Amino acid sequence: MSTPSPRPPIVQQRESDLPPLGAHAREETGLQLQETLVELIDLSLIGKQLHWNVVGALFRPLHLQLDELIASWRTLADTVAERAVAIGFVPDGQAGTVAADSALAAVQRASIDDHAVVAELTQRLAESTERIRSRTERVGELDVASEDVLVEVLRALEEQVWMIRAQRASR
Ligand SMILES: [Fe+2]
Repeated sequence: MSTPSPRPPIVQQRESDLPPLGAHAREETGLQLQETLVELIDLSLIGKQLHWNVVGALFRPLHLQLDELIASWRTLADTVAERAVAIGFVPDGQAGTVAADSALAAVQRASIDDHAVVAELTQRLAESTERIRSRTERVGELDVASEDVLVEVLRALEEQVWMIRAQRASR
């Protein structure tokens, strides 16, 4: 069985059918979108882990809020993956790729107190937004439409960081 290359930026569509980016911009933009896709999928998986395992007085609001966040991350992941396809890059959101490439730390497999859930979530989201901001700036030099997609992701995640941090401040 052959082993697939780790990040194949395969252009499967005819060059003439794609936005006129040039090979370098297409590949580099695709890679930045791919890294963001992995980030968003892993956030949604970690979010479900916290959704199931949160305990404490804030169980119900956090349990419900996490599902709202997960829905947002999944929608954004879809937008990012489809932008990659639109520029001729094949995205990969499969479990093995996410496990191998995600920079996010796993959460412990245990019940997690509500205040710890807020802290774990804030930390990961803040780290993600930093990485996504860097990617957005990089893509801004290459493809304005993909930049717009990443700006949408960044705006959503930074708003989520603010709202979650606001909850932590009240404790
Ligand atoms: Fe649920």
